[in-house]
Amino acid sequence: MTNASDFSLHGGATKLDGASAHNRTENFFEFCDVCKSFDDNAVLKNVSFSVRRGETCVIMGRSGVGKSVSLKHIMGFMKADSGRIFVDGTDVTDFSERQFESVRRKVTMVFQSGALFDSLTVGENIAFPLEKQPGLADEDVDAYVDKLAKMLEVDTVLDKLPGELSTGMRRAVAMARAFAQSPEAILFDEPTTMVDPIMAGHMGDLILRLKDAFHRTSIVVTHDTHLAKKLADSVVFLQEGRVAFFGPWDDFENSKDPFLHNFRAQDALIPALDVTL
Ligand SMILES: Nc1ncnc2c1ncn2[C@@H]1O[C@H](COP(=O)(O)OP(=O)(O)OP(=O)(O)O)[C@@H](O)[C@H]1O
Ligand SMILES: [Mg+2]
Repeated sequence: MTNASDFSLHGGATKLDGASAHNRTENFFEFCDVCKSFDDNAVLKNVSFSVRRGETCVIMGRSGVGKSVSLKHIMGFMKADSGRIFVDGTDVTDFSERQFESVRRKVTMVFQSGALFDSLTVGENIAFPLEKQPGLADEDVDAYVDKLAKMLEVDTVLDKLPGELSTGMRRAVAMARAFAQSPEAILFDEPTTMVDPIMAGHMGDLILRLKDAFHRTSIVVTHDTHLAKKLADSVVFLQEGRVAFFGPWDDFENSKDPFLHNFRAQDALIPALDVTL
């Protein structure tokens, strides 16, 4: 049985940022009336939602609706035209690139591609964030890498290079590396696309295992209702740039709204198509 204390390398999330100790708002993430356009393409229209500390929010919606754009605002890769964005109780909307460095230490994003270092082995990739931590002995780093690798079932490929692995395996390594950073929150962009339905189910199980072990605030962007059902405490459903639904998963699942009903029904029917998405 795995529990969070087995993985507490840093003695708790607040060590990453002393400010969090006196600033613990109920919501870890908050979007308030966020608007974003690219030329005349209005992508986000007064988007508001929040994610409670320790919970997992799933952002769903059709392709091109602004799911990835929303995540990029949190990481500071994009700036809102109007509205406010709060991370860990702090308004980061007007943060400079330099100020976003502290946000990126607290919040890590697992990219679809994995974004691993191709010339480093799997083990070195996972250890990478740990090497920057002062005062960590080599044995501690090795032990933590082993624990994360076992948890994500990549312990047999620690000496391989990322190029030798399948997409699913690479993504599992990327998740291990993200958790090695001991983030307070983690963002997953489409963790189950470009793999077959069995691997997609497996990725979902791995994320669920991480959720149960670490209790980190998470946002998972996906169109995959199977994954959402497994992970979501709350759901944001984007439609034509607006939040068409925000609330608990059970309410989303039971909603009579014809559009939401259609989306759920269609997606539930097409797991096999995940392979090509
Ligand atoms: N850097 C950019 N410059 C111009 N337009 C952009 C940029 N990034 C995103 N867009 C536009 O914003 C819209 C939303 O893109 P986004 O990537 O958030 O979609 P998505 O909901 O993540 O879709 P998918 O499910 O296909 O990943 C799209 O119309 C896209 O063309
Ligand atoms: Mg996207």
